[in-house]
Order: sequence, then structure tokens, then C-alpha cells
Amino acid sequence: MTVQLRVYVPPHPLIKHWLAVARDAATPSVLFRSAITELGRWLTYEAARDWLPTIEATVQSPLDACPATFINPEVPVAVVPILRAGLGLLEGAQTLLPLASIYHLGLVRDEQTLEARCYLNKLPEKFDPQTRVLVTDPMLATGGSIMTAMAELTQRGVDPALTRIVCVVAAPPALQKLSATYPGLIVYTATIDETVNDRGFIVPGLGDAGDRIFGT
Ligand code: PRP
Repeated sequence: MTVQLRVYVPPHPLIKHWLAVARDAATPSVLFRSAITELGRWLTYEAARDWLPTIEATVQSPLDACPATFINPEVPVAVVPILRAGLGLLEGAQTLLPLASIYHLGLVRDEQTLEARCYLNKLPEKFDPQTRVLVTDPMLATGGSIMTAMAELTQRGVDPALTRIVCVVAAPPALQKLSATYPGLIVYTATIDETVNDRGFIVPGLGDAGDRIFGT
């Protein structure tokens, strides 16, 4: 069987609603931030479905013993927000993954070349190969940033098959690059937009998510 990149666009009314709010240019910064937080929460909920490790146990209810499933606390779970805009999604993700370790990765695109440059790297030298990693970044446009992030992660032992990317708007150039290099990877996104313009912006997209989240 050929392994392929999988991209999920969960057909959920809450995801559609908060995407609509985020897309609207009239949405003020404070509401935009809430929309991104909500999208982080619901997309992480979807991504966690077959990703969070569980263990089987038995618990004693007030009436009888019964089988039970818990999240396995021994398997490391990590969230990697790509700064700045990935911080907005992190807030929602963290409410569902309160015990996850958070490793910040600061990337910024050069406005002319559109190449991603790393200015902060808080990743550990080596990850446990069992680590479940969730990467958050609202926009996958040309793909330079996410490819840089994935390279930093995999060279530290992260397994792409145990990695989930949570974004809001994904565009074909980024998805094609991910697919060519990380076929086992899974992306959760609120939408796929067709176009990236010559300034590297996704169209219609949602503008500059970092600027809109932080009001700068
Ligand atoms: C934006 C966005 C992604 C990246 C996507 O970040 O949040 O990280 O661009 O573009 P790419 O797929 O073409 O690399 P930006 O560089 O504007 O930094 P910011 O999050 O600090 O605003």
C-alpha cells in the first residue's frame, strides 16, 4: 500500500463558524484571537482522535469493576507552536492537552525571498521516538515554514507518522512539499485555499494571522 499525506478538513459547524469569523476583514483583533483559539481547540480535538496514546485498565465503579481506557501518561506528548501565529492555536490545543510539553519554534519569512528564517529554537536535542508531536501554525502557504519546522523535528528523532499538523488555511504548494517528503504525515485544517499570490499570501485566506492575533 502506498503511504500518502492525509489532509483532513473536519466538516464541523463550529470549525466553519470560527473560520468565517477569522476570514472576515472586519473582525477586530480581540475576536480574531478568540476565533483562532477556538479553531485550535476543535482541530486539536479532531487530530487527537487516533493520535493520543491510551492504555486499558480496570476501574471500580460504585457498583462494579469495569474496563476503562485512560490516556497513557508514559508516552510523551509535545506541542510545537510556530511563532508567532502558531501561539494563537496553541491556546486552544493546550486546554485539551494540559500535560503536553511545549517547544517554541520562532520562524519568520523574508518578505522578499519568502524563505523562512529561524530566530528561536527551543526544541530538545533529541525526542523520544515515541513522542506524539502536534505542530500548530494557522497558515501553510508556500510551505517554507512548515518544511523548515519538519526538518528541525525529524533531525531530532521525531517520527512523521506520529506527528499531526494543525493549521487553519492550507494551500497546495505547502501540501505538495509535505507530501513529497513526509508521506505518512497527517494535516488537520479548517480549509484548503487554492491560491498563493506573488507576495506569499493565501487567497482568500485570512490575511496576516500573526499581525491580526497580536494587533501589530
Ligand atoms: C506566516 C504564517 C506561517 C508562514 C506561512 O508567518 O504564520 O508561519 O507565514 O508561510 P509559508 O508557508 O510561505 O512559509 P510569518 O512569517 O508572517 O510570521 P508571524 O507568524 O510571526 O507573523
